[in-house]
Parts: sequence; C-alpha cells; structure tokens
Amino acid sequence: MLINLWYVVLPSAQLTDGLKPVQLLGQHFVAFRDEVGTARLLSDICVHRGGALSAGVKVGGSVQCPYHGWRFGGDGVCNHIPAQPDLRIPLRARVDAYPTIERYGWIWAFLGDLPEAERPPLPQLDWVDDPNVRVVSGHFDWDASWDRVMENGLDFAHAPFVHGSTFGDPDHPEIGGFEVEREPWGGSALMTMRRPVRKGWRRKPTGAHVDVATRPGFHLSGPCVTLELAPRDGWKIFIVSAHTPVDGRRTRTWWMMGRTFMRWPLLDRRVVASNLKIFNQDLVVLNKVRPERVPDSWLQEVSIKSDALQIAFRQKIHALEERGWRIDEVRVEREFTGRTACVVPCPDRREGGPWAIETIPIIAQ
Ligand code: FES
Ligand SMILES: [Fe+2]
Repeated sequence: MLINLWYVVLPSAQLTDGLKPVQLLGQHFVAFRDEVGTARLLSDICVHRGGALSAGVKVGGSVQCPYHGWRFGGDGVCNHIPAQPDLRIPLRARVDAYPTIERYGWIWAFLGDLPEAERPPLPQLDWVDDPNVRVVSGHFDWDASWDRVMENGLDFAHAPFVHGSTFGDPDHPEIGGFEVEREPWGGSALMTMRRPVRKGWRRKPTGAHVDVATRPGFHLSGPCVTLELAPRDGWKIFIVSAHTPVDGRRTRTWWMMGRTFMRWPLLDRRVVASNLKIFNQDLVVLNKVRPERVPDSWLQEVSIKSDALQIAFRQKIHALEERGWRIDEVRVEREFTGRTACVVPCPDRREGGPWAIETIPIIAQ
C-alpha cells in the first residue's frame, strides 16, 4: 500500500453531522465536518491515552475524545483539556490531520506528508458533473487486496470466463492488439470488445454480437480504474471504481457509472444491480487468488502481451515505491501491535516539532 496519494474517504452526502470512523491503509481515521462544513480527516488515535476519537462526539468544529474529553480541532491540534482547563496545552497534544478535497461527489483525503505543491492532481472525471450524463453510484467490499482488484479492472481476458453470463463472450476469448497510452499518473488502452447482444427483461442472448470500443485505464494519484465504453454511435458509458485499501487484504470500492442515453431514473436500479452482479462475479475469483497480493517479482508469475495494461500499472507502482511511498506492511504487523501504534504522517509533520505517535514504517529505497 502506498502513502502520498489521494484516497476516497466517503461520498460527500454520507458525511453529515456526526463523526464517521474510516479505515484506510490499515489505519484508523475519523471524518467529520467542521463549523463551516469543510470535510476533515484526523488520525483516530487520541494522543492522551489512545481513545478512539471516532467513538466520541463532535462539539462545535472539534472532535471530543470519548475517554477524558480532550478536544481536537479540524487541524488536529488539541484545544481543550477538561481535567485541567487552565493548563497550557502541551505541544505534543495533536493528532495528524490530512488535507481533503471534495470533488465529483466524493471526499478525497491526501494520506501523506507532501507539501501542497508536490501533491499529485486528482484524476479527471469531468463526466460526473456533466448534466447530460445520468450518474448512479454505490460501493462494494472485497475480501481481496486493492492491487489485485485494480488489476482485475484492467484485465479483459477474464471477461469470457468470469462474466460469461453478463458482458463476456465465452465463444470469443481472443484479445486483439492494443497500445498502452501512458500518462504521468496512469495509463489506458483502447480495445475492441466483442459483446453478445442480450434482449428482454431476462437479458437472454440473441446469438448476435456487437463490437464495442472500450477504454480501460488506471490512475494512481487517486487510485481508481476507469472505463469508457461506446456501445453505439453517440452513446457513452463511463465507470470509475476507486479501489480503496481498507488494509492489505480488504478493499472498499466506491464507484460511479454514467450514461449518456436512456437517462430515465427508473433504469437506475437496474444499472446498479448489473454493476454489483459483475463485481460479485469478480469476487468469486479474486478472493481465492494466491498470493493475495501482487507479487514483488515479475518472475513469480507469467505475463503475456494481452496483460500489457496491468504491466503498465505494476511499473507505475514500482516507480512510486522508488520514491519511498510504500508502507512496510511486514514491519507494521510485526512491530506496531501491542505496545506501539503508528500513523500515516500528515503534512504538518514536515514542520518538525514533537509528535506523540510514531509514523508508519516505509520501505526505504
Ligand atoms: S484518551 Fe482521549 S482524552 Fe484521554
Ligand atoms: Fe471482471
């Protein structure tokens, strides 16, 4: 798992009055809105005696710890200690606070310590705000790692086998040639997908096929897989799946799907159901994949040309690991249980000063 990227915390509409516990990158956080409605994300570990802040209450724009009532503002700094209200608040009485952006209906948090100028840009998902696109959304929980789930979204060779009853064509598993187009924070490829034509309420195959221009892609600045489909001239489908690591082995996907045709709200439920059906088909395979994570060495698996988009994804991940952004998950499990907690460092840590809790171990390059 990687720090210094933007992760989807929650849909904006789900963060209202209270405190929301959130787990990302194996760590615990609390999300809330301050007095002016700005979304905030803090580390959930109270630096007094380890209370879970998300189990507390919101008081004004601050989070009040459930244990001894210390209050922390949206900037993570303690502003009230009830047991000794006249005490000068110790400098170390602060928790990590992460930058957030609300865009495309989601709250994104930057889980890392880079200064603003060095943070990567969010992925461009302008279709979400286009009034001519009907958007539906949801989430899906996987018993599988985020990197395996991301790769699955870039892989079309599995469609005939895993999705034969939905959009895959079991009779035509061949993948035509394609070129990977690389971008600074991701990559995509234009492919032609042969899809069986289904008709009627039960979606029975008619025996006919259509070729659908399909562009799968990935973005790492805010980890997600995107998909653009042109099922007919002038018709477009857009899908974004933000595959967010809950921890090393579990993933929560926040997804949105937009369509430029048949925009009747009555169809929404069907669109949602068919997307979830596809995810469930993937889950059956993905939660049995071994090793659970994408292996470190290329040599531990066999890749072929039609895996090129996943290869581009792995290369990009390696480039970010070389920047020193990869969490040392083995050390986290070995050393940060029992008596020692750790947190993802926030940008304020760069300014120095004392902090109570150690930062999460990173694989040094
Ligand atoms: S543990 Fe949070 S106030 Fe004491
Ligand atoms: Fe799939």
